[in-house]
Amino acid sequence: MNPTEFEAATLPEGVAEVVFDAEAIGATTDRLAARIATDYRDRKVLVVGVLKGALFFTADLARALQRAGMAPDQITLDFIAVSSYGNAHRSSGEVRLLKDTSESVEGRHVLIVEDIVDNGHTLHYLRAVFGGRGPASLAACALLDKPYHRCVEVPVEYVGLEAPDEFVVGYGLDYQESYRHLPYLARLHPWVYRD
Ligand code: IMP
Ligand code: MG
Repeated sequence: MNPTEFEAATLPEGVAEVVFDAEAIGATTDRLAARIATDYRDRKVLVVGVLKGALFFTADLARALQRAGMAPDQITLDFIAVSSYGNAHRSSGEVRLLKDTSESVEGRHVLIVEDIVDNGHTLHYLRAVFGGRGPASLAACALLDKPYHRCVEVPVEYVGLEAPDEFVVGYGLDYQESYRHLPYLARLHPWVYRD
């Protein structure tokens, strides 16, 4: 059995199918990092990961930026945490900042790193918050895009993969705080989350 076959044979309860395996996620991260490293070649970037969903993606992206040629003093890592109200599988427009950056944003080139953009409220809120703090520039990178139910148009300068119009978990993404640790992105059985 190769690793992908092994994963398929041992999917955790509630997981229907692997959508993007670790290899696909890694290749996508490298592709995004190459673009970012080129665009920021003369600049220092403050990489702001959005917890908890972008935990693994931010870590892997930062290391991919180093492989893509960015110097150690070009990358500073920071994190914020947000929560958004809504039902079990869809966020609402009400986003709350649970933890702010420890770095000051003023005058810095800020790159917001998100796991997934769905209706757009979360990133719209974060762009407004950071945009109001006088950054030298502001851009966003999302591993996944779900463009099907966008409520607010929000720019995403770096987009990794288009997710299916379904609830996905793993690689940081959760369903009610479970499944984040899975090394791949997977589709849940609808019976897990339908309310
Ligand atoms: P938005 O505000 O609808 O754009 O959603 C962004 C946030 O909703 C993400 O950071 C995730 O935490 C969550 N989210 C949206 N779609 C999914 C999904 O398919 N799986 C897990 N979390 C999701
Ligand atoms: Mg979430």
